[in-house]
Amino acid sequence: MDRPSAESAYRRILELREEIARHDHRYYVLDDPTITDAEYDRLMQELRQLEEAYPQFHDDTSPTQRVGGAVAEGFSEVVHAIPMLSLDNAFSGEELEAFDARVRRATGADVVEYVVEPKIDGLGISLTYVNGRLSVGATRGDGTVGENITANLRTVRAIPLRLREGAPPQLDVRGEVYMAKEDFVRLNQARAEAGEPVFANPRNAAAGSLRQLDPSVTAKRRLAAFFYYVPLPEQVEASTHWDALEALRALGFPVNPLIKRCMGIREAIEAARQLEERRPSLPYEIDGMVVKVNRLDLQARLGFTSRSPRWAVALKYPAQQGVTRIIDIVVQVGRTGVLTPTAQFEPVQVGGVTVSRASLHNIDYIRAKDIRIGDRVVIQRAGDVIPEVVRVIAEERDGTEREFVMPSVCPACNSEVVRPEGEAATRCVNFACPARLREGLVHFASRDAMNIDGLGPSMVERLVDAGLVRDVADIYYLTAEQLTTLERVGPRSAANLVAAIEASKSNPVYRLIFALGIRHVGENMAKLLAKEFLSIDRLAAAERDELLAVPTVGPAIADSVVEFFRNRQNLDALARLRQAGVRMADEPPVIGAVRAHESRFAGKTFVFTGALSKFKRSEAEAIVEELGGKASSSVSRNTDYVVAGADAGSKLARARELGVAVLTEAEFLDMLEQVGYHLPDGGE
Ligand code: IVH
Repeated sequence: MDRPSAESAYRRILELREEIARHDHRYYVLDDPTITDAEYDRLMQELRQLEEAYPQFHDDTSPTQRVGGAVAEGFSEVVHAIPMLSLDNAFSGEELEAFDARVRRATGADVVEYVVEPKIDGLGISLTYVNGRLSVGATRGDGTVGENITANLRTVRAIPLRLREGAPPQLDVRGEVYMAKEDFVRLNQARAEAGEPVFANPRNAAAGSLRQLDPSVTAKRRLAAFFYYVPLPEQVEASTHWDALEALRALGFPVNPLIKRCMGIREAIEAARQLEERRPSLPYEIDGMVVKVNRLDLQARLGFTSRSPRWAVALKYPAQQGVTRIIDIVVQVGRTGVLTPTAQFEPVQVGGVTVSRASLHNIDYIRAKDIRIGDRVVIQRAGDVIPEVVRVIAEERDGTEREFVMPSVCPACNSEVVRPEGEAATRCVNFACPARLREGLVHFASRDAMNIDGLGPSMVERLVDAGLVRDVADIYYLTAEQLTTLERVGPRSAANLVAAIEASKSNPVYRLIFALGIRHVGENMAKLLAKEFLSIDRLAAAERDELLAVPTVGPAIADSVVEFFRNRQNLDALARLRQAGVRMADEPPVIGAVRAHESRFAGKTFVFTGALSKFKRSEAEAIVEELGGKASSSVSRNTDYVVAGADAGSKLARARELGVAVLTEAEFLDMLEQVGYHLPDGGE
């Protein structure tokens, strides 16, 4: 291919940067993506290649620059031109009414309009944009001097690197970076598994992730952000706080969608109450509500104390804590062999939920908190969901408490346990350990893995106890007769299970890779490896360096993949899976006699719009991709075909405008037929 002229390359670079930034905004700010991940990756790859070929067009605000740059020796200081203050607290409706009375007295207003916002439990940050480009991002620090964490904040995709149309010459914004509850739980699981210390709560996890000297570590953590304050509102020409937030939204910042305007404090208290009800179901942690005077002229009249604004107050929730006793500490063995000590409590209500156990993670955690069996402890639900021990009430000890010792043999199989140097985790080394086996089988059959319906924890336990299954391959040699010998298994459920096992044989290879339970290989990594290597054999033969050459595969993953495929038992199980007919390779798809890359679909971009009668849009897109084409959701000059179903609207109009070929559904079906692709019967 000819190298494009510098001018046309630059034009394309600008186009791609803008398009990718638009998709980032849709995904990370609006939570409403319009393209597939694969399509996004392709845009990124094209941009990366062009930027590499034309380094003169480097730009810090390019979406490719979010990956995290060089490791820093320390953070430099940033002096906040306007100090980052904290908020006064209120703990009840009465205290809010007293706040309102003060506001009305000082301003002479009869009724004050308030804005009620969730108080995000994360890390406060301050960003400065110059000419619409992110220039400096800092932590709060002591309120006057913070740390310059710009390189890390760049990796947070919810933070715009460039503002949308209408940005002022300079803009300062304040907001909160946080970690969603789900991502916090996942991060801690991975850390516990790797023998690393866990974070106490999502706020610590967010703070720990942002205060990393290596921005590429931050980039791997899933962080998000909300913005809630413009300290110099004249920069956005707002006369109310609400308008300032609207302006932020229009410039591309994530602004919390639950924010409400309320006339008078009564309405504000009611809004706060309603928000509190939603607290458990929110995907992120909040530790209260913030009530702010909406009119900025009134805010100015109220002013600040040395600590906090007089025009805002935080209504804090009582912490969801409880006190109970540790009856025992039992050890559970996970599928990777990690021994996890778990505290059993006298059941106690915390935030409306009965808590009777909590993970103590590992022996270092127990020692650091000096937790003993029999101790009275304060517990709380971290991430609003996961219970944890906050501290021991040592004053109440009576001498009968016992120290916990990590068993020197596996509680499930009596084999040796090891604690590798530098790791907090203790592991059972026996690959055939029944506890590991059970957990491994449950994982193997789970929905995101091989998806074998009817093979849940209780069935797995019965199969293992009966000695019918000793590794994952044994699953595929089970017969209906064998199954009916188990308790509570009739001929019908036996037949169903055999059918579900049979069906799982033709799963795409990534499911098998994920199901094998290779350490550090989650579902996404499994997909990536399947795409890269196409078959189990090629993956098994991959050397460490080959694995490391795959983007986002680090040394820990590469080592554990290599180790997994060196293990005799694993290879043996794989051989028997193969023999049973479990699919081991994703062939480049063959359709009829036509190979995908030869088909009329290869490399062509399709957009489906309107209602199709023979399939769902997602199915049509999958077929196109199977045939080597691309499916997109927006029409551009790069679109080859728009397939218009009933009631097609703006995309069809756009296609006509750009002169893109338009097909009816029938014409699309003809095209499929011509390459030998037939829709499955009755599958509609
Ligand atoms: S307004 C001058 N609004 O809470 C007023 N703060 O305890 C600036 N926070 O330092 C703060 N959600 O880090 C405001 N919706 C919200 C907030 C919020 C969380 C944090 C912020 C602040 C701390 C005060």
